[in-house]
Amino acid sequence: MQKYAHERDDCHWCQLRHFPTDRKAPVTVMNDVDDQALPRGFRFINSGVLGDGVRPADESFRSGCACVDSTSCQFAGCQCLAELDEDNDSDDCSDGDEGGGHVPRKAYAYHMHGAKAGLLRSKLHNSKVPLYECHQGCSCAPDCPNRVVERGRTVPLQIFRTDDRGWGVRTQEALKKGQFVDRYFGEIITSAEADRRRDAAAVSQRKDVYLFALDKFTDPDSLDPRLRGPPLEVDGEFMSGPTRFINHSCDPNLRIFARVGDHADKHLHDLALFAIRDIQRGEELTFDYVDGVSQDPDDEQDGMTRCLCGSSKCRGYLW
Ligand SMILES: C[S@@+](CC[C@H](N)C(=O)[O-])C[C@H]1O[C@@H](n2cnc3c(N)ncnc32)[C@H](O)[C@@H]1O
Ligand SMILES: [Zn+2]
Ligand SMILES: [Zn+2]
Ligand SMILES: [Zn+2]
Ligand SMILES: [Zn+2]
Repeated sequence: MQKYAHERDDCHWCQLRHFPTDRKAPVTVMNDVDDQALPRGFRFINSGVLGDGVRPADESFRSGCACVDSTSCQFAGCQCLAELDEDNDSDDCSDGDEGGGHVPRKAYAYHMHGAKAGLLRSKLHNSKVPLYECHQGCSCAPDCPNRVVERGRTVPLQIFRTDDRGWGVRTQEALKKGQFVDRYFGEIITSAEADRRRDAAAVSQRKDVYLFALDKFTDPDSLDPRLRGPPLEVDGEFMSGPTRFINHSCDPNLRIFARVGDHADKHLHDLALFAIRDIQRGEELTFDYVDGVSQDPDDEQDGMTRCLCGSSKCRGYLW
């Protein structure tokens, strides 16, 4: 058996066999480029894994809305709705939700009616506002329309070997602009542990980075000590879902949003990926790892990774 041990370790189909994907949205792996398998020891997970020293909020700080009828969670009376302060000058009124040209201060983040129902409203696609959703602590039912991210991925994805950027991910179904794709899962670790892992990666000259900071609410003046920083980080290198294989593009078709369920857990907010344009079946999925923040070209340093996104808007380097 020893003789075949390496085959077992390199078998990415075995890793996926233990990943709870339903028949509607399976994850498949395809490599017609070289003989690489998924990274040895990599584990698929379906929710975040809390690292040492990372804790969710105490039960006594938890809260949720009291809506009994889930349709109420689309209206201002629901305590869970997102706060949106911007002017409404987009196409979002097309489904008649706003009853005029002005968006209320609190507004449901998704379209309510018609073909766009459940899709992220267009005016949010370029904004940096967090998405507030209903969650387990709410009185509404699991099919509440404001639980899009909580319900999880419904899109079948394929992890495939690219010619020049390692693994990538493509959608096996056409996606609509505003459609939720999946969360970026991983180990949620302290910033000290993230720094330690970054240093270890530099020493072993591994250049891939899978760390994303949960810094949406970080504020040195916050009354909540957990939000004063430095923020927790999500590491998808060793444990994650299929989104961990999504590559960067300077002109991406997805965007990453902070999503909050229970407000007491803002320090542990989700990272949720949504389509920001219509995407054809088979197209590679990409997001901008630094969300438009570009490095000063005069500040180019050794060891920065050259970006191979191939777009005409390419900024040249990943970081
Ligand atoms: C989150 S991972 C994406 C999956 C990765 N391709 C793999 O095989 O595991 C990020 C790493 O992928 C590579 N990568 C992603 N986007 C890239 C791009 N536009 N140009 C060059 N390398 C890229 C870099 O090595 C980066 O550190
Ligand atoms: Zn609800
Ligand atoms: Zn509600
Ligand atoms: Zn709620
Ligand atoms: Zn680029």
